Formats: sequence, C-alpha cells, structure tokens
Amino acid sequence: MAADNAVGQHTELTQLADERVDFRFKGLPPDADGLTVGELAAQGRNLFTGGFTTPVLALSAECVAHNLALMETYSTRHGLAFAPHGKTSMAPELFARQERHGAWGITLAVPHQVRVARAHGFRRIFLANELVDAAALRWLAAELTADPEFRFVCYVDSERGVELMDAALREAGATRPVDVVVELGAGDGARTGVRTEAECAAVADAVATAPTLRLTGVAGYEGEVPQADPERVHAWLRRLVALAAEFDKAGRFAGLDEIVVSAGGSAWFDAVADVFAEIPELSAPVLKLLRSGAYVSHDDGHYKELTPFNRVPEEGTLQPAFRLWAQVVSRPNPEQAFTNAGKRDAAYDLHLPAAQVVRDARDGSQRPATGIEVTGLSDQHAWLRTSPEADLEVGDWVGMGLSHPCTSFDKWQLIPLVEADGTVTDYIRTYF
Ligand SMILES: Cc1ncc(COP(=O)(O)O)c(C=O)c1O
Repeated sequence: MAADNAVGQHTELTQLADERVDFRFKGLPPDADGLTVGELAAQGRNLFTGGFTTPVLALSAECVAHNLALMETYSTRHGLAFAPHGKTSMAPELFARQERHGAWGITLAVPHQVRVARAHGFRRIFLANELVDAAALRWLAAELTADPEFRFVCYVDSERGVELMDAALREAGATRPVDVVVELGAGDGARTGVRTEAECAAVADAVATAPTLRLTGVAGYEGEVPQADPERVHAWLRRLVALAAEFDKAGRFAGLDEIVVSAGGSAWFDAVADVFAEIPELSAPVLKLLRSGAYVSHDDGHYKELTPFNRVPEEGTLQPAFRLWAQVVSRPNPEQAFTNAGKRDAAYDLHLPAAQVVRDARDGSQRPATGIEVTGLSDQHAWLRTSPEADLEVGDWVGMGLSHPCTSFDKWQLIPLVEADGTVTDYIRTYF
C-alpha cells in the first residue's frame, strides 16, 4: 500500500475496515459475505476472477494516487491552500488521503456531509453553501463547543441568511462565533451568491452586527460563471479579489489572524491560480483556498474536456480512474447488445458511458471495444449499438469510461480500488 493509504491520524477511519461485507454492496463477491472489508482487502482478490459480480465499478488505485499527488504538487507550486470538495466522493478514506496530500481541510455542500466528515474525525471544514437550517446550526454549535480544534467556515449570501443563522445560533447557546465568508455570485443569472459589491457590503454589515458570526473572508464558484470562457472567469475572479481588498480596506477583517479567499473547482483552477497570485497584501495573511473535487477520480468525458491541464499540459495530466464493468446479457442481433449496467450504476447526467474494452468471457483476454457504442441507458441496462467489426458475445464483460465523478461515486457504496493487474487492494466506502 502507498504511504498515503495508511489510516493516519483519523482513528475513526479504522472502523471502515471493520464493516461487514454483505448484500448491501453491489458487485462484491457473494462468497465474501461476513468478512470484514479489511479481511477482504487483505485477500487481494482479482476483480475478474475473484468472485465479483457484474456490474461492478472499479476505481484505479494508480490513477487515484496519481491525481492526489498531482493536485498536491499543483496547489503547492501556486501557493494555494487546498480544501478539495468532498461531495464528489463522500468517501472519508479519500478525504484522509487528500489531507495527507497536504489539503488544509475538506469542502462540503450540505449539513449531512459535514456530519459524515465530523464522524470520521475531520477538523477543518469549509461549507460552500449558506447554512440556514436551525437543526443543523444547533448541531454545529454543539460540535464547535465540544471540539476547540474544529474549524468551520461557511458562506453567507443574504441579510436574511445572516438573521436566520444568528437567531438559531443564539438559541442554541453557541459558545464561539461561526466563521463566515460572503459569497459573491458568479454573475447575472448564475447560481447562489450576492450579485453586487454593494449588496456584499450590506451582508457583511449584517454579519458585523451578529455576535454569533465572524466575517473571515470572501468566496465564490467560478464554475458557475455564465458562458464561461477564460476571459469571463478571470474577470469574475478579479472581482472576488477586489472585493476582499475592499473589505480589508474598510476594516472588515480587523483582528483576524487569517483572511479566507476561496474559489475553484476542477475546470478553472488555472485561472484561480493566476488571479489569486495577484492578491495584494492584506492586513492579515490570506488563506487562498482552492476547492477542486472532481479531480480525485477525474473522468473520461466532461472533465477530460474541461480540465485546465489541457491548457497547461506542462503542469501535468489527470488520469481517469473509473471503469464500470458490465456483462453482456443479450445480443439479439448483429447491431444490438445489452449489458446489465444502467442508470443505477453509471453517471448519465452529462454524457453516456463510453465502451473502452471488452474482456472475453472465454479466455479472459482483453481487446479494445472497437465498433461498440453506448446509445442509451435504461434503469438496469446499457444499450449498445455494434458495427460489423465489433467482437462481442453474451457473457463478455464490457469496460466503460464514465463522465462526471460526482454522479459516479454516488451510485456505489463500496468501490473496489483496483491495481492495473486486476488486484483489488482496498475498498472505498461512500456515504451519500
Ligand atoms: C461551490 C463549489 N465549489 C467547488 C466545487 C468543485 O468543483 P468540481 O466538481 O469541478 O471539482 C463545486 C462543484 O460543484 C461547487 O459547487
């Protein structure tokens, strides 16, 4: 196992290895029922011959290790702190590996995800959303009281949001203020976030009057810039940086040890690196927090097209880590074939899966999936169109590349981590 695979400081993670394997986990070998995940991993079974059932999603051990190391190098080289978005994998084991690869903490999107991270011992969490849920705020206040080392930052994007947060935190008897950053919207018609600088100032004013909150910076998500292109994304990031400078000049960050400026998914981190390098000296050191999440598995579709490494190939290349293996269950005519993986198993919100390789059921050999195209997904089937050169029969396994990491991870609760020779070295537990 790679050094970064070790469980490290999060003792809660050792429990993942103690979970029993059974019918809850798709694709795992029926004859492994009752073993713990740790015991099964120690057997080092082969994905193809070790009793796994189809469909089964495999995550390449080498590609994940490569991607973790590459983004560590990238953020270090560009002076960025890293809080990878955990909603992508919702896998505490991967969060821990991200931390061991230098991440400052983990970004999350909703309270449940924060609970997952806290249950596994994570102490620095950036919630890239406004938190106005009174029950979640009550829980958060208790967590902050119970653990002085717990650092939590979330967005605020409205005066009403500030009012709701303050009311809920007061009622909960919060003992220390919750750190908040004003979210600047990525443009007219974009997703969440305050639309104008004047409105940002009004939200910051509201925070200043709320004793349960502390303004620690500004943030946003360039991935939602309408009609995004390098120019528009750079321009929006410059607005974000200017907002930080303006708030600082106005004394809004007085007394802070650190000012947070955060942006960045997996499509524009080159622009974030460019513009964050221009952040002027402020009254306190700036935590330039990048939040890419999809990079961890990367993909064979959406992010393969959008990755900034296409623009800066000299800085590296991410490797697509997912391969979904499904079995041909019907070959009714020379133009059609059907595998047993469908919408329950594959991401399909951005692109359909792409057939990459065929594993011959007769002799275990692998060949390129020539002449095989996935044209549709039913709940439990993939529709394949085959041209005359396609060599495919019932029983063969088809290995498919996927598009969109976030909607691939969420369909699988225990994902084999597989080395190039097919050896399964570990299992990644997800909590969606
Ligand atoms: C607010 C926010 N930050 C960061 C990210 C991470 O972006 P990516 O999934 O491209 O890595 C997302 C993804 O949706 C997001 O919504």
